[in-house]
Amino acid sequence: MEQSIRAPRRLRGTVVVPGDKSISHRAALLNAVASGPAVVENFLQADDCLATLECLRALGVPWSLEGDGAGRLRIEGVGRGGLRESEDVLDARNSGTTMRLLAGVLAGQPFLSILSGDASLRSRPMDRIVEPLRAMGAQVWGRAGDSFPPIAIRGGDLRGVRYRLPVASAQVKSALLLAGLQAEGETAIEEPVATRDHTERMLQAMGACLEREGDAIRLSPLDSELEPMSLRVPGDISAAAFWMVAAVLHPDAEIRLPDVGVNPTRSGIIDVLRAMGADLEIGEEREQGGEPVADIVVRSSRLSPATVGGDVLPRLIDEVPALAVAAALTPGRTIVRGAGELRVKESDRIASTAGELRRLGARVEELSDGLAIEGVEQLGGGRCQSHGDHRLAMALAVVGLVAGGETIVEGAEAASVSYPSFWEDLRILASHG
Ligand code: S3P
Repeated sequence: MEQSIRAPRRLRGTVVVPGDKSISHRAALLNAVASGPAVVENFLQADDCLATLECLRALGVPWSLEGDGAGRLRIEGVGRGGLRESEDVLDARNSGTTMRLLAGVLAGQPFLSILSGDASLRSRPMDRIVEPLRAMGAQVWGRAGDSFPPIAIRGGDLRGVRYRLPVASAQVKSALLLAGLQAEGETAIEEPVATRDHTERMLQAMGACLEREGDAIRLSPLDSELEPMSLRVPGDISAAAFWMVAAVLHPDAEIRLPDVGVNPTRSGIIDVLRAMGADLEIGEEREQGGEPVADIVVRSSRLSPATVGGDVLPRLIDEVPALAVAAALTPGRTIVRGAGELRVKESDRIASTAGELRRLGARVEELSDGLAIEGVEQLGGGRCQSHGDHRLAMALAVVGLVAGGETIVEGAEAASVSYPSFWEDLRILASHG
């Protein structure tokens, strides 16, 4: 499916972004192994989180969804011992979070599980979970020398380990925490750089014994079942980021984004856009479901280029395509470094972002671990391609909202992986002009 976008004269309005993808996955997975029912409001009903739910159903977890888009998930936790062997391959579709977090749960289950996914997921590295889960005592195999999906797991008696993550990855950290819950003895995980901490927050709220000590997280095995946790999922800052960038770049814009999660391990995009000069207000900070949430207002701004790298990167890892669009229209040189992980996301996001932005007239150079962007005053638009990557599809749409001519995004349906109503929200916002 392709979408055609033209810049509206004005870009003003309110967008209620969908529920956070990372938190929705965790709310489903952790409640599935808790004991008893939970209700998750504003659960993200997008392809990725639906993949997690379908896998859980195949493992014997009952759940139901009400409403569409901002739905309500009712899930019946079966307890740690209540999962049963799936009759079929578990299909994580496009979702790395589904595959890696579920692998952590299944590593402690005494049956065989086979996890696979779409072509993109089957090309993403799994050795990063295979190796530590084996060290904990699970039997795990993967294709191509245990590196890629499908992966097979025969779980069993696990022992806690001390493990330093070789890459900053919340998915790997979370997989090991989920395995550690079922292990004998303590699990300690050291992170080179802090990554999103939704799993830790949720586990603590559900009664697990977990503490942070410097760059290490120490988790004790459960001595009773996890308590179910009902919550309302905050709006996804990674979805809001596209509207933030559209607003700062458009000459006549004011976009309100209510109820957005602003967890400090996720809010790097706010810090970087502000450092570049964005007119971005954060109000009504409060707590929701154990997570900080705020209302955000973003207006047309004059940006300056930036150098982005180091500890902020994991805090905005999914926002680099959107940030690249901001930089492409910010005169001067913006550099993003230390982002080698982007090579193994839903697409090789360094190559795909650079290549597609260049097709739209931007001056973007690919670095081995990032991007060098020479910002220009105006982009003309043109035809471009999502590479089946939801974040790239949406970042390219943002170019369309501010470019001189028509922008056509091919493979636009990819947005449904994390933001099913993206194109509808874009039409509504643009039509106010
Ligand atoms: C996620 C962690 C990040 C992020 C992904 C979601 C999560 O991946 O890119 O979209 O929910 O834990 P890594 O942890 O592999 O960097």
